Amino acid sequence: MKGNFTFCNPTRLHFGTDAMSALAKELANFGPTVMLSYGGGSIKRNGIYDQVAAALAAAGKTVVEDGGVMPNPTVEKLREGAAKAKACNADLILAVGGGSTIDYAKAVSVSAWCDEDPWEKYFIRFEEPSCRIVPVGAILTMAGTGSEMNGGSVISNHAAGLKIGKVFGPDVFPKFSILNPEFTFTVPRRHMVAGIFDVMSHILEQYFSGDDDSTSDYIAEGLMRSLVASSRAAVANAQDYEARSNIMWTATWALNTLIAMGKPTDWEVHMLGQAVGAITDATHGMTLSAVSLPYYRHIMPYGLKKFARFAENVWGVASAGRSPEAVAADGLAAFEAWMREIGVAMSISELGATEEMLPKIADATFILTGGYKTLTRDDVLSILRKSL
Ligand code: NZQ
Ligand code: ZN
Repeated sequence: MKGNFTFCNPTRLHFGTDAMSALAKELANFGPTVMLSYGGGSIKRNGIYDQVAAALAAAGKTVVEDGGVMPNPTVEKLREGAAKAKACNADLILAVGGGSTIDYAKAVSVSAWCDEDPWEKYFIRFEEPSCRIVPVGAILTMAGTGSEMNGGSVISNHAAGLKIGKVFGPDVFPKFSILNPEFTFTVPRRHMVAGIFDVMSHILEQYFSGDDDSTSDYIAEGLMRSLVASSRAAVANAQDYEARSNIMWTATWALNTLIAMGKPTDWEVHMLGQAVGAITDATHGMTLSAVSLPYYRHIMPYGLKKFARFAENVWGVASAGRSPEAVAADGLAAFEAWMREIGVAMSISELGATEEMLPKIADATFILTGGYKTLTRDDVLSILRKSL
């Protein structure tokens, strides 16, 4: 561990089939008005809404309804939610849903009492909140983003052709999160596997960077092995509780800052994927899967040692007497086979991207410097072209 760091994660997590029983005690920590934020209606169809509404009623809360948070939440929805949270003087924003709803709730929490335009302040200038922050609590219904235990908030601005993530500090992390793996049983298969790939991508973004023998990398390898095994079981049987619970817990640990400690991180796959998402509004995890192999094959020569380690430690590729190039290539081939097996998107064309869109997607791609190779615009275009 070469880096210096402070680790603090203030989110209290309640996990398992009984997790909802903790909601009453959590609600008692906040004032009377709760803004209840949720997505397009899945929680009404699967009964989660009724459970939450009953707990809020039993706690005597005044509930302000805030449904309709779309996947890839927009800046327009953020502005609307911020005005609503301010008007009702919300004491808590209770986000019930996946990453989109929780990300949105965090953005609203720092925007309700902010005098400036939140898009400009947080997502363009990347400033920290300087206003009152409305606390957020989360009830997670889909595993993937890690938003339940981190400060991330990703907002789309379609007019500007941008999708940007801001990472807020511990004050904006959910105060509590409720994770019942059974709540994920009704997630459509396409979203389940997109979430699984998102988890894998989060781990890889933090793994493929740096050159030391760090504890963070060993933890990352364990998380990846668990994810691969559980993803196969969940694809075979979506009601497999152990598999779904392992995926949910792995998702949380993949992006709650732990495995980034003491080492550099990359995040270029997310920059490419978010740019694809900004232009196509495609499902986040699928935008990542569609660009990952061309990206990793492009940077592999610059991080060969780590790619060979990935092959051996995650995929069980034999290395004795073989060149690191051959071992590393086999690792990416095993990764590709797993992607095809679980059924994620393998190209951006499947997501609606066309050759003509590539310059615009390249313009929306932020270039970061933490990975094994800092991309040029030509590299970005070449990777996007190979992703078509
Ligand atoms: O909107 P509803 O009706 O709830 O339906 C959702 C949505 O259509 C559905 N769903 C969720 N739980 C369900 C369910 N359907 C049936 N049963 C359930 N139990 O699934 C669909 C996708 O939901 P969404 O919240 O959009 O998915 P996800 O959790 O993947 O979140 C994606 C967003 O998170 C951002 C992404 O960019 C994207 O905007 N990210 C947030 C991060 C963070 N906070 O750190 C990091 C990630 O890299 C990511 O960028
Ligand atoms: Zn992600």
